[in-house]
Parts: sequence; structure tokens; C-alpha cells
Amino acid sequence: MSLEERVQQLKLERDAIILAHYYVPAEVQRVADFVGDSYALAKRAMAAPQKVIVFAGVHFMGESAKILNPEKTVLVPELAADCPMAHMVSPEKIEEVRGAYEDLAVVCYINSTAEIKAHSDVIVTSANALKVVRALPEKNIFFVPDENLGRFIAAQLPEKNFILNEGHCHVHAGLSRERLLEEMERHPQAEVLAHPECTAEILELAHYIGSTSGIINYATEAEGEEFIICTEEGVAYELREKNPHKTFHFMDGGPICPDMKLITLEKLLHSLETMEPAMEMDEDKMARAKAPLERMLELAK
Ligand code: 13P
Ligand code: SF4
Repeated sequence: MSLEERVQQLKLERDAIILAHYYVPAEVQRVADFVGDSYALAKRAMAAPQKVIVFAGVHFMGESAKILNPEKTVLVPELAADCPMAHMVSPEKIEEVRGAYEDLAVVCYINSTAEIKAHSDVIVTSANALKVVRALPEKNIFFVPDENLGRFIAAQLPEKNFILNEGHCHVHAGLSRERLLEEMERHPQAEVLAHPECTAEILELAHYIGSTSGIINYATEAEGEEFIICTEEGVAYELREKNPHKTFHFMDGGPICPDMKLITLEKLLHSLETMEPAMEMDEDKMARAKAPLERMLELAK
């Protein structure tokens, strides 16, 4: 029996659903029941009737699934797969900014630890940040931890006063404007599609800016045939599956998130075999982090 067949068999035996992010290796996306961006994955985790959720993604994604489904077993095939940006703000910093403003909302990108979420008023993802922040009554917004997403949203909401935090994704921030300009010169017909975690100097060259699902949907629906993709190379799998006749260019072979690539098919199978590692969390922290996540789901509807 192949690894894939064994995964499918065990999945049924364990009453499990496999959720995967677009950045995990293609072999893992292929066996998943659902592949999506962070927002779609959080919603799918909530709607899952299965007793077990296997989360093929980085730590904060499994953690969010557990917070939203505390009664379920959430398996994370590799506990060490962690998003460095999730740690780029501290609870102390959040409380310091809270103390400086009366009319303030702490808006936290889902790429954050449960501890940071527990200190925040609402969570956002790249797919819903604009809608959620626009709906908040507060004028002052402390946006954590991603400075680039925060700046991108701030530019669209001039009525708000954004306080930004110095956090970033090393994968997206590493993309070079010079290399993108070269790529654009080489492929003058191509549209540039970028994730909002990219720096402002990349985003100002983009024809479309959106979440991983947003990028895939845009490329699929667009009349154009050629695209330069400014996000992690894992999206190439779905882009090419959905659009076999379109051409997708990635700079220098495509940026790679080393943490997402730790999720292999072998580790996924091992999780289903052993029912480990399972996400374990402090109950009080889970309850405090749940409220801002639920507020996101409500405001983003
Ligand atoms: P999406 O929510 O757009 O899938 O992004 C998640 C992420 O980690 C981007 O680096
Ligand atoms: Fe974190 Fe960047 Fe990897 Fe996304 S691509 S999980 S933001 S390190």
C-alpha cells in the first residue's frame, strides 16, 4: 500500500479530516481534504464534523484550530514548524501601547502565538483584514505583528490612525524589487500578483494584492495568461492544477518557507498512526484567545 493509500485508510479509521495550507509540499496538499488560506482553514476547522483535525501547516494554524475546537483532537505533524513572525511582538509591548491610547483596538494578524491573540481585541487574516478593521468603532489601531500587512491596510483606511509594529515575514520580505523589475521586463505581458506580507516596494509594482486564495482565484478568473507570483512557491501546485494552460513565473525559482516545508507526507502518516503530536494548550489561554478569533469570524462574515 502506498503512503497516500495508508493516509486515506487511517484517516477514515480515526474519523479525521486533513486540512492543509497552500505552502506545504504538493504531496501533502494532494492528500488533504481541504487546502486553503488561513481564513478559509479557520472556518473549515469550525465546520468539520470529524473528531480529529490533522493540521498540515505551521504551529499557529494548528493552535487556532484547537482554540476554535477545544473538544477535538488537533494533530500537528511537526510541532517544530513555527512561523517566526508569530513571535515578533510581546504582550508587554501590547499593554504599553494600550496604556498610551484611550480609543484603541489591538488588531492581531492570525500569524501570532495564542499568548499574543489572548492580549488582542480581534484577529484578522490577509483575506479579511480590511473588512474587519473597517468595522471596528475605535479610531486608533495597533496592528501586530506584521508591519507590511498593517501598512497595506492602513493606506486603505485613512479615517483610522494606525500604530505599526516592527514584525515581518522573512520569506516575503526577502523578495527583491530589482529582481521583480527584471522579471517584469522579461515578461512584459505578465500581471504581478503579490501577498500583502511583501514590502511596500514590491506591493507598489503589483497589479493585484491578496491572500494566497485571493492570488489563486485572481489568476484563475483573469483573462491574462501569464503571471509573476510574489508569494511562497507552494501556491504553484494549485495555480497549475486549476490553470494548466497559463504560465506562472516565480523569482529565482520561488521563495520557500522552510517551516511549511517541514510538513511531509511521512510525518502526516506518522501523526495518524500514533495520534501524536496533538496540540495541547492551557485552558485559560485558550479561552482568552478564542474571543478575538470568534470576533473575526463574526465581523468578516
Ligand atoms: P494566507 O492567509 O494568505 O494563506 O497567508 C498565510 C501566510 O502565512 C502567508 O505567509
Ligand atoms: Fe510565517 Fe512567512 Fe512562513 Fe507565512 S511564509 S508561515 S508568514 S514565515
